[in-house]
Amino acid sequence: MKLWGGRFTKEENTLVNQFNASISFDQRFYRQDIRGSIAHVTMLAKQAILTEDEKYQIIAGLEGILSDVESGALEIDPEAEDIHSFVEATLIERIGAVGKKLHTGRSRNDQVALDMKLYIRDEISALDALVKELLQALLTVIEENLETYMPGFTHLQKAQPVTIAHHFSAYFEMFLRDRSRLFDIQKRMNTCPLGAGALAGTTYPLDREYTASLLDFDCATRNSMDSVSDRDYLIELCSAMATMMMHLSRFCEEIILWNSNEYQFVELDDAYSTGSSIMPQKKNPDIAELVRGKTGRVYGALISILTTMKGIPLAYNKDMQEDKELVFDAIDTTKGCLSLFTGMLATMRFHKEIMKKSAMNGFTNATDAADYLVNRGVPFRDAHGIVGRLVLYCLDKGLSLDDMSLEEYRAISPVFDADIYEAISLKTCVEKRTTLGAPGPSVMKKVAAKYRKLLES
Ligand code: ARG
Repeated sequence: MKLWGGRFTKEENTLVNQFNASISFDQRFYRQDIRGSIAHVTMLAKQAILTEDEKYQIIAGLEGILSDVESGALEIDPEAEDIHSFVEATLIERIGAVGKKLHTGRSRNDQVALDMKLYIRDEISALDALVKELLQALLTVIEENLETYMPGFTHLQKAQPVTIAHHFSAYFEMFLRDRSRLFDIQKRMNTCPLGAGALAGTTYPLDREYTASLLDFDCATRNSMDSVSDRDYLIELCSAMATMMMHLSRFCEEIILWNSNEYQFVELDDAYSTGSSIMPQKKNPDIAELVRGKTGRVYGALISILTTMKGIPLAYNKDMQEDKELVFDAIDTTKGCLSLFTGMLATMRFHKEIMKKSAMNGFTNATDAADYLVNRGVPFRDAHGIVGRLVLYCLDKGLSLDDMSLEEYRAISPVFDADIYEAISLKTCVEKRTTLGAPGPSVMKKVAAKYRKLLES
């Protein structure tokens, strides 16, 4: 006999137990676990699998556990294997033998599938509420800035003038799509797996549709093997969150640029900025940078869960326990980023004069000068060439199109007249763009009204 044999075996068991256990992270859905058990027992009694008295005892016990965990009177045992074992063991400890009937016609496989769905359903609602708050903050900016000019960019080069309302409405559209993705997932995932058992259902006469209705599901799942091994909705949610984070991150990138010394389009509130330990003048956009940075974590969750699922044979395998920590982290991260971003946005100040000036230079009205010629019969391709020559001339002389004299215009094309100045003014450039989706304040106002309706419905 080895001198250290006993000790080694024991230590190995401890390691195995720790490796196997999920209590450290699945305790977060103790409410869902208890709610599922109460529904299960209610159904068992309706089907006369348990007596009414047994049902009452078990439910009273479960409710007691719930309120004691909530109040802190009962601590979740960190040595338990998982939340399901903890609740069941505590129940038996408290109400005795009748508690042993709770797990009739159920497996931890369908139980965990249910708990996760219940938990995720609530989290999707919470995410949706946060996106809605962000949309509300965006809409406020849009409504207040229908006529606040700024340059629009392509290739990060000034292209054509737009408005703050128009630029922010682009993000409004993105976050609206994010909400619709959340809605789709909610709808598709809303089927109840309880009663699928370990993988092949059960021989007890369960009423699965009844359990489903008790737990506010649309219906029960149709295939017991799929019920315990489906994690599609988590993949869909991670994908939706990854997309949301991508949107937030792009927005943060712009805000970081706009907040820089070079742009000075916006100024972040002190509450959302931090200082430097060495450079006294610094006010850094750390929150925006962190949101941009944390996007990687959420992308990581999506790739992790896809990879975890890709080689799992039907039905339940323990690999699937890996779904929790990463999805929880992705949800916590996305929720945190959404609410911080909304706060940052709502307190951000715009330097409207600087934005306007910036919109006026960089030849953002060159397209409009070409359109002017087109309206006077010059074919667009020729007009493009003429304005190209104007721009070259201006660059050489250090002028903008607005500064050129009419003689200078006419020297390049006699089609130009005194009304060119009006035609290429910043105001005209923006106001004339009134096709649906364009920045013209008249059309943008209608779009904003639609947004308001959408948020109110
Ligand atoms: N902790 C497990 C999980 O998260 C619960 C299901 C356990 N089932 C089992 N057959 N061991 O997936």
